[in-house]
Amino acid sequence: MSATDDTVVADVLDLAAQRVEAATCLTFAGPRRRQFDAALDRMADALGLPGAAACASWLLAGPWDDARAALCARFLTIGETYFLREPRAFDLVCDQARTLLARGAARPLRIWSAGCCTGEEPYSIALALRRGVPQLPPERVDILATDLNDAFLDVARTGIYRRWSFRRADPADLAAFFRPLGDGRYEVDASLRAQVRFANLNLASDTYPSALDVIFCRNVLMYFGPDQAARVVARLRDSLVDGGWLVVNASEASTRLFQGFTPVYLEDAVFFRKDALPAPAPVPPVPPVAAGAPVVRAPAPVPRPEPLAAARPSAPVAADDTAMARVHALAQTGAREEALQCLRRAVEAEALSAPLQQRAALFALEHGDLALARHCARRLLYLEPDSAFGHYLWALIEDAAGRRPRARSLLRDCRRLAGADAELLGAAGAWLERMS
Ligand SMILES: C[S@@+](CC[C@H](N)C(=O)[O-])C[C@H]1O[C@@H](n2cnc3c(N)ncnc32)[C@H](O)[C@@H]1O
Repeated sequence: MSATDDTVVADVLDLAAQRVEAATCLTFAGPRRRQFDAALDRMADALGLPGAAACASWLLAGPWDDARAALCARFLTIGETYFLREPRAFDLVCDQARTLLARGAARPLRIWSAGCCTGEEPYSIALALRRGVPQLPPERVDILATDLNDAFLDVARTGIYRRWSFRRADPADLAAFFRPLGDGRYEVDASLRAQVRFANLNLASDTYPSALDVIFCRNVLMYFGPDQAARVVARLRDSLVDGGWLVVNASEASTRLFQGFTPVYLEDAVFFRKDALPAPAPVPPVPPVAAGAPVVRAPAPVPRPEPLAAARPSAPVAADDTAMARVHALAQTGAREEALQCLRRAVEAEALSAPLQQRAALFALEHGDLALARHCARRLLYLEPDSAFGHYLWALIEDAAGRRPRARSLLRDCRRLAGADAELLGAAGAWLERMS
């Protein structure tokens, strides 16, 4: 191929990435670009086209129709989620429910899980309310759960999950709200299922629901371009009642994005309360959302937790914990680059700590620094060559980099090494099934 041909191909891929971003909000700028090119290769395979460039041309030709939308949703979205992730957010929902009951309001509590993936998040909301506010009748809870990817929604509607989806859940919740199917899978209780409505909704569209009390849009905005994310946040704000809450992942909480909201920083989450007026000054005080929760008030317009230590457990912690606490605290303020920088220093300072390398690899992966994630995963496997979880992590990294065959082979190694670790075996097996 000549240099001119290479340039033409690069231009077509660039244009396709721009079109995809306009249609889905998903951005593939910078380090994510290789992921896009690799996904286009796989999409080309699925379409029977000769390669990424042909697939890019197909994406660019003609109107943006359902076929293009569905293929992009299938190949470009990331499906990482689990039950009761970042649990403080569920305390917030319970507090809102109690407030509604205390006011004697007859209307239902309205919650939206935007970017619900395979359903673990909206079912967790239903579960938390049932457990935390049993006096709220189920018919007074309306949970809308939406996603771009129909395949994820199909899984969500079946309500059947493997153990891996419960990796952070309390076994008592598993016993109380799920029925074991006898093959390592669990089915969500029918009454919880009845509370959740699933629908396909592209956050790039204008068709947002309204009058919501709480919106969960966690681990979604981080995949969007800055302009798209700002537009989405503005529309999410319009969808809330005055005083309603938007919940995002701590690392997505760049305050520049959240105009017209009052931020409240907790240990493992950031909540944004919709102010009655678009740009209030001064910011009114916000009461703690959960009894005993370590709330850190943030000054506007560039809020930072003060002091950071107040957001962390006060008990003495190991060096690894201290380092990771600092990294998470920085991420909570929206300082992603500083958090990653701090992480880089920590992994060098504690180069022989396998647990730190593992946590660091996960953090780096979740925050889009594949090079750092790979560096830490490699160290982890140097320190613990037989670590099944290390192989799983590396498979996640290879998959994110678009190297699916490599990810598949690492998952097979993970299964071989997992021994009696049923959760990891199940997770690796389920993922391999989805890949085939
Ligand atoms: C990493 S998952 C997060 C799942 C869940 N919110 C959580 O935090 O556990 C991101 C989800 O966002 C969805 N998503 C990405 N772009 C979207 C869009 N434009 N509209 C709706 N959902 C989108 C993906 O399909 C995926 O299910």
